[in-house]
Amino acid sequence: MSKHLEVVKLNKQFTMHILDKKNIVAFHDISFTVDRGEFLGISGKSGYGKSSLIKCIYRNYDVTSGDIFLYDKAGNALNLVEISDIEMLEIRNRRLGYVSQFLYTIPRVTAMNIVIEPLIDRGWEAERAIERAKALFLLFDIPRNLWDAYPSTFSGGEKQRINIMRTLIDCPEFLLLDEPTASLDKKNRAIILDIIKELKTQEITIIGIFHDPEELDLLADKTLPLDRPGFFEEAIPEPPHHGKNGFVFQI
Ligand SMILES: Nc1ncnc2c1ncn2[C@@H]1O[C@H](COP(=O)(O)OP(=O)(O)OP(=O)(O)O)[C@@H](O)[C@H]1O
Ligand SMILES: [Mg+2]
Repeated sequence: MSKHLEVVKLNKQFTMHILDKKNIVAFHDISFTVDRGEFLGISGKSGYGKSSLIKCIYRNYDVTSGDIFLYDKAGNALNLVEISDIEMLEIRNRRLGYVSQFLYTIPRVTAMNIVIEPLIDRGWEAERAIERAKALFLLFDIPRNLWDAYPSTFSGGEKQRINIMRTLIDCPEFLLLDEPTASLDKKNRAIILDIIKELKTQEITIIGIFHDPEELDLLADKTLPLDRPGFFEEAIPEPPHHGKNGFVFQI
């Protein structure tokens, strides 16, 4: 298999200017590679930098140091840390898809319009884009009466499915998934897991964050566990012991 993404000694810190320039370490010194068509699962506790890592690859966040090489089929690499914003946008439009942990809905834009937007931006005729979207709406089991409704009123699970559909509609070669099954019930979880398995058979490379170790086992070819080396962990003082669990609710 050929290399698709290579992350080298990546660091991300946030400097909180409003907090006297306090540094928050999102993750530290991460290196890994993902081959074309491979699924890399990211695990780790809440706050250990999983979403930040994916956001750095998609360039929602600038990295503090390190490199991120994206390879094409001929083996040529672009360093996503160094390319211009225009080049990054081109990569996002054509090659890299990102499903965020939460869907930020825009008021008065219908589910159908949210889903077809990436194809319209690429110059597709609306009719053709709608035809492709309808197939996805059926695949993701979204009731017909919601296709032209506004997702701001949708349930968490419906919003998350719209979020994933919008990314999958123009079939990127590389997908970044931030907890795509987090707010779904068992049935919808199974739909998404089946679709991800299908994506794997179509040689799409995926980096996915999953909290459920069973889902990770089921999908991942390999796993990157994020943990926190003790040197930047701040000591948290023990709370004073009150009541059964050490917290007094009535004060
Ligand atoms: N924009 C930001 N500004 C400041 N700190 C941030 C920002 N984004 C993330 N952080 C901090 O970086 C650390 C890692 O956050 P991140 O969201 O990457 O964690 P996570 O592993 O995805 O957690 P979860 O499992 O809860 O989604 C946290 O301490 C968080 O507070
Ligand atoms: Mg997260």
